[in-house]
Amino acid sequence: TTVEWEAASYDMGGHDTYMHKEIFEQADAVDRVLRGRIDDRFSTVHLGGLNLDAREARQIRRVKILGCGTSYHAGMIGAQMIEELARIPADAEPASEFRYRNAVVDPDTLYIAVSQSGETYDVLAAVQELKRKGARVLGVVNVVGSAIAREADGGIYVHAGPEVCVVSTKCFTNTCVAFALLALHLGRTRDLSVRDGKRIIEGLRRLPAQIAEILEQEEGIQKLSEQFADARSMLFIGRVRGYPVAREASLKLKEVSYIHAEAYPASELKHGPLALIEPALPTVAIVPDDDLLEKNRAAMEEIKARSGQIVAVAHQPQEKADHTIVVPKNEDELDPILMGIPLQLLAYHTAKALGRDIDKPRNLAKSVTVE
Ligand code: G6P
Repeated sequence: TTVEWEAASYDMGGHDTYMHKEIFEQADAVDRVLRGRIDDRFSTVHLGGLNLDAREARQIRRVKILGCGTSYHAGMIGAQMIEELARIPADAEPASEFRYRNAVVDPDTLYIAVSQSGETYDVLAAVQELKRKGARVLGVVNVVGSAIAREADGGIYVHAGPEVCVVSTKCFTNTCVAFALLALHLGRTRDLSVRDGKRIIEGLRRLPAQIAEILEQEEGIQKLSEQFADARSMLFIGRVRGYPVAREASLKLKEVSYIHAEAYPASELKHGPLALIEPALPTVAIVPDDDLLEKNRAAMEEIKARSGQIVAVAHQPQEKADHTIVVPKNEDELDPILMGIPLQLLAYHTAKALGRDIDKPRNLAKSVTVE
């Protein structure tokens, strides 16, 4: 399949790489995924392509999200949003693992395939296998009319616009926002209150301006990146909502800078990775100002006590960290959408300091359409 985007979308507009351009397009991109979908009257959202009526939405007993790479990480964030806002048990799994393990396909489960390109073979094969077994599958896809979008029973287009850089940035953010919309919609057909619905809608509307605020910090983040460019490895930690953010930030750094990075749940530090901590292994800690703040501070203390360097991504300066990247606070459930954005810039500037081929990292392809 070929896809037609407006030629103007490919203009670099003064940016040195598509990655940089796409990072800076995120406020506009989020505007687009929200546009025309918010229903203030019922404090919910309209998702025209879902093909799921309210009765069917209420019959869902479980949600299983499938994707690869960055889309898998967006799915992890989506699963948490669906559990929190709709109280439906949900989890994400790499599509490739799912399709090879002869998974039990359950008719009361809603399956969701996530893909920027809509062409990733492992995801497509998982969708086809699910459909063959009679499951209902939705797609959360960027490219309109792509194979996965056509194969799914319905879904949500994330409207990020064309993404050219091999590593995904704006599409990740928009996919997370699309999941917030779906979680809100499912929540409001079930037990999410009008008040909470309003709270989430207001949070969604604040996102574009908050993204712009984060991107204004580029200079400071660039300095940090230059400081860490000679690291051999980096550790990313987060807890619950922060964990998928750590996973995605770690992937981004690996992909574009070729620095080894590992993401770990902060709660698992003491079960192994603490043995790695030394001054030469910097840690990036995702520290949202939510009810787990104290736990996350304690984790940073453990690292400090072993002379590890820490960069925190937080809503206020963190005493235990050597540096804090302060991001604006949104609603707790939506914070993960924002917390990864400065770390896209960290990956970008690290790769730049090392002279990497940012838009086309070695050994990687934008979409993997073969087995
Ligand atoms: C490739 C790309 C990744 C991407 C993954 C899934 O591995 O290099 O950046 O996240 O495919 O792509 P998709 O188009 O399905 O989101």
